[in-house]
Amino acid sequence: MDYIVEPGKISGEIAVYGAKNCALALLGASVLTPNEIVLKNCPCIEDVNNMLKILKLMGKNVHIEGNKVSISGHLSTTSVPKELAKLLRGSSLLLGSTLARYGNIKLPLPGGCAIGARPLDIHLDGLRKLGVVVCQQGNTLNCFGIPKGNVYTLRSKSVGATENLLCACALAKGHSTLINCATEPEVVALEKMLSSMGARIDGIGTSILQVCGVDSLSGTQFTVIPDRIVAATYLSCALASDGELFVDNCNPTHLYEFLKIIKNSCKLNVYENSIRVANSSLKICGEIITGPYPAFATDIQPLVLSLSVLSKNSITIVQENMFESRLEKQCEELSKMGAEIVVHNNKAMVVGGNLCGATVRALDLRGGAGLVVASLGAKGPSRICGIENISRGYCD
Ligand code: EPU
Repeated sequence: MDYIVEPGKISGEIAVYGAKNCALALLGASVLTPNEIVLKNCPCIEDVNNMLKILKLMGKNVHIEGNKVSISGHLSTTSVPKELAKLLRGSSLLLGSTLARYGNIKLPLPGGCAIGARPLDIHLDGLRKLGVVVCQQGNTLNCFGIPKGNVYTLRSKSVGATENLLCACALAKGHSTLINCATEPEVVALEKMLSSMGARIDGIGTSILQVCGVDSLSGTQFTVIPDRIVAATYLSCALASDGELFVDNCNPTHLYEFLKIIKNSCKLNVYENSIRVANSSLKICGEIITGPYPAFATDIQPLVLSLSVLSKNSITIVQENMFESRLEKQCEELSKMGAEIVVHNNKAMVVGGNLCGATVRALDLRGGAGLVVASLGAKGPSRICGIENISRGYCD
């Protein structure tokens, strides 16, 4: 199926649902205990549904009631089903928890968005440092050993590696220090959920985590944080189409860098848990450089790239520092709509102007959302193919 997008104002009120990347990390951590984990505000999206299917096939009891999901029981196998693992990057988030609780895991290499090579070397290097034996056979990782506390410095701030290593350390024998950890809000949410289960973690929200391993963890109830990327998507849709939109149930502090970039392009009201945009006249300009939190989020980059190409008489430089294949391919799609972009070495120079509706392809999740944003501000309808990439991370 394709989307046909007819330009029109995106206006009204909308609430943001739970963050995909938070829910996936919390679901991965549910393996740490046989006791019941109840997640509220869990988003009903393809990636989360597939992660729940994986947990179910591995023996967990999974009960879904609207946006409330409960998971309990022991794993009956530590072998992650291949066909499902391939569908999402989040399947790799079972590594740390399954090793910590069961001492082994067989993980087919995970899939996910084709935005770069996305190696797992930091995850595996860190696990080795905790005493785990890692063997790769073809496209499958076989890991053995109950993690033991140690000191480990992540070569770069990886969200997934921080999450996996934290789960591994939570039940490890002894004390661990993890240095150069990612501090994305989704990572901090995991730190908080683990603490509520009885994990002993110092340094929550910082890049140095001290973890004192415990023998067992209890169940808990936890609310998935609002999806900051979805909030940015809704706001971008309104900005591109000159709509007036009230976005509720979001956390504006998680969107600080994005709000800084759009604030000169609209009337912006920021409240405690909500944001309103109106009267947009796009003037995105200057330099946008992605990096680990709190720097500008790579997942918001394709949205702002679209807003830049729609900013008449503006020049914007967009530099993608996180995923090496993300920017160039997206620029190619936008060029089909008439965007003026020169891109080289993950740096794009965008000359804003008018876009015309065209047939374009959603090559990945956020890139697809970026094309919806661009289409809303274009002249004439657009056809967006590859929308299965969009439904992986967006409800409705
Ligand atoms: N990296 C390595 N080796 C590793 C791990 C990461 O070189 O072992 C590199 C990556 O290639 C990348 C950088 O480190 O260049 C950052 O990757 P990170 O590990 O932080 O990303 P991730 O955990 O694979 C999560 C989100 C992504 C989001 C990034 C960055 C999940 C399931 N995915 O991925 O979300 O872009 O963090 O914030 O949490 C999305 O939702 O569309 C999405 C791609």
